[in-house]
Amino acid sequence: MNNSKISESIKLLHLFKENGVDELIANNPFNRIKNAEKIRKKDSLNNNDTINYDYSMHTDKINNIGSIAELRSYMSNFKGCDLYKSSTNMVFSDGNPESDIMLIGEAPGHDEDIQGKPFVGRSGKLLDKMLEAIELNREKVYIANIVPWRPPNNRRPTDEEIEICLPFVKKHIELINPKVLMLLGSTATFALLKNTEGITKIRGKWIDLNVNTITVPTLPTFHPAFLLRQPAQKKHVWEDLKSLKNKVSE
Ligand code: URA
Repeated sequence: MNNSKISESIKLLHLFKENGVDELIANNPFNRIKNAEKIRKKDSLNNNDTINYDYSMHTDKINNIGSIAELRSYMSNFKGCDLYKSSTNMVFSDGNPESDIMLIGEAPGHDEDIQGKPFVGRSGKLLDKMLEAIELNREKVYIANIVPWRPPNNRRPTDEEIEICLPFVKKHIELINPKVLMLLGSTATFALLKNTEGITKIRGKWIDLNVNTITVPTLPTFHPAFLLRQPAQKKHVWEDLKSLKNKVSE
């Protein structure tokens, strides 16, 4: 590389840095689950220190987990999702594990990553108000996320990250065994319901979700972060909250 190319590249790197780029993403999606064995072989041939995760064992191990404490411990030692590398803390859950109501969001943001608790930032404050409106609070509900590590720059978790973390979420729901489940936003909804229509159409509709050994009546609604941007949509979530309250007391 000649000097002018080097200085051009340095300028470009400065530009990326100033704009908050802190990772490189490939042009095309890459199925790490499908290719795990290939990666493992390639990495062991290269003899480098890349973590070689055998995803085929992942689901079996999770199936055998029998308690929330065991799930938390398994997840904290899990090295198969790169998101953990850039996060400060794993965000496992908050609230009452005995609750009839489980809420699932998307992924931790900056504040959640620092505190290791879900929904403690701006959207969390709004979520607390939403719960208060139906006489609930964190002692009366249980809260988790689809992905337990903060994606860099608060980007949406990729489909691949979601698929890797999905067995955790499903086991989490099965262990809590709530009477009802509320999905906050399109990421949580799509991850669990695999819906073909958008969140605007599906929100407010009760759907029976089969998770491992249990079936849970599930209500998708808008994410509090969306409501912060679109306060006019709060009226719909108010309807969903009332519907949630009614369902629990049925
Ligand atoms: N948004 C989420 O979906 N989850 C959190 O924990 C915080 C913000």
